[in-house]
Amino acid sequence: MTQDEMKKAAAIKALEFIENDTIVGVGTGSTVNHFIDALATIKDKITGAVSSSEESSKRLIAHGIEVFDLNNVDVLDVYIDGADEITKHMSMIKGGGAALTREKIVAAVAKKFICIADSSKQVELLGDFPLPVEVIPMARSYVARELVKLGGDPEYRQGVITDNGNVILDVHNLNILDPKQLETDINAIVGVVTNGLFAQRGADVLILGSESGSQVIK
Ligand code: 5RP
Repeated sequence: MTQDEMKKAAAIKALEFIENDTIVGVGTGSTVNHFIDALATIKDKITGAVSSSEESSKRLIAHGIEVFDLNNVDVLDVYIDGADEITKHMSMIKGGGAALTREKIVAAVAKKFICIADSSKQVELLGDFPLPVEVIPMARSYVARELVKLGGDPEYRQGVITDNGNVILDVHNLNILDPKQLETDINAIVGVVTNGLFAQRGADVLILGSESGSQVIK
């Protein structure tokens, strides 16, 4: 199986977690694109979706799936999203697609976070993948200096503006031994909107696509 086929296997398996007549929280990325395509096959059974990015909204709408404003939704049973890295403790690095802030907001509302990923995303320790941090543009240099004090090497993601009008710093070489604490510490820097550590609200279920198909890990 190719990496993309593993992503697709995990995405299709996630359909088993969707209840009839519910609004589904939908993440962002290539694995989620497979999920959206799969969701379209059962679109008559669901009420619609809440989306974490303009990119996912467009794909949902193109499939004829109604996209709701999160402010008008009280209950989200599940949020389905990918990850750049995930540990056995279900902590993740996310934001490779620059959608981390909206992803974190939708995840906060959902009762269950279901991570869909290919097996290359499973890691012992987070941090080989540079940690994305969404930053208010005028604070970019200040935040970069503060991130250096935390031991990281921030790199400005050139040419990328988030759906919220902000910029991304990708932080290399962080020593992420305590992801929950680092999530708090980075979010405390003035000018940071949020960072891509999803440790305080990690995944509840991991669906891992591998050579042998898809495996559900709780
Ligand atoms: C986007 C994300 C994605 O979930 C993450 O980058 C994984 O992407 P892919 O499914 O394309 O490997 O956090 O902001």
